[in-house]
Amino acid sequence: MHKSINLPILYFGTPVVLISTLNEDGSTNIAPSSSIWWLGKSCMIGLDGSSKTTENLKRTRECVLNLASANMVEFVDRIANTTGSKSLPLHKRALGYRYVQNKAEEAQLTTQPAIKVSPPRVTECQIQLEATVENTHAFSDAPIPMFAFELKIRHSHIEESLLMGDNKQYVDPDKWHPLIMSFRKFYTTNDYIHPSRLEKAPVEKYRIRSTKSMPGKIFNAVIGRLYRKYRH
Ligand SMILES: Cc1cc2nc3c(=O)[nH]c(=O)nc-3n(C[C@H](O)[C@H](O)[C@H](O)COP(=O)(O)O)c2cc1C
Repeated sequence: MHKSINLPILYFGTPVVLISTLNEDGSTNIAPSSSIWWLGKSCMIGLDGSSKTTENLKRTRECVLNLASANMVEFVDRIANTTGSKSLPLHKRALGYRYVQNKAEEAQLTTQPAIKVSPPRVTECQIQLEATVENTHAFSDAPIPMFAFELKIRHSHIEESLLMGDNKQYVDPDKWHPLIMSFRKFYTTNDYIHPSRLEKAPVEKYRIRSTKSMPGKIFNAVIGRLYRKYRH
């Protein structure tokens, strides 16, 4: 039996990332977020228009996505209900948010420099993805403005102990246990429940060729022509 209901929020479970961005004065802001999904080398994140991260992303167009693993739950929870914005919007006041100038310190996290972008990485995160903003979309007709940012991953840092394969090129899902938020509660992935048909093809078949090399340019030009009919 299914029941027709009007859920207050569709929060079915997604990984938690700590987004680091730079404030106007060059200091770092870190914000937990879980509206995120990946496709190829790009990803989409969804953010409240009033958050400091939104403001920083629009201005600087770069960030680091620091993926939180399950063992980081206490760090993340320390900065839940905080914002790097000095003026708190009404809805965040109602939810008991407070302004925190240095969220890394508040969470008891440390940072280290990134390679291709200016905001730093969160050292304690086993997966750190440096990214730039490719597109910004106003999202939904909710009274509180929301934005979807399309990000391109420019550089990936993965903790070595998570890697597998002869050349340590792949993340081992049996070792990587992301922190997942589902309906405001924290979970993780631990249970391997079934072999997948996707597993059967070599993972290298998923690699997008570099457009910098000549073979890569030719390959992409040919693929681009073949797939043109799917663009619209
Ligand atoms: C686990 C977790 C997940 C969150 N997911 C989101 C999200 O997907 N989108 C969003 O706008 N805010 C999300 N928030 C709330 C933001 O952290 C909050 O808006 C915060 O004020 C943003 O910080 P900032 O204003 O310094 O950028 C989440 C908070 C927590 C603790």
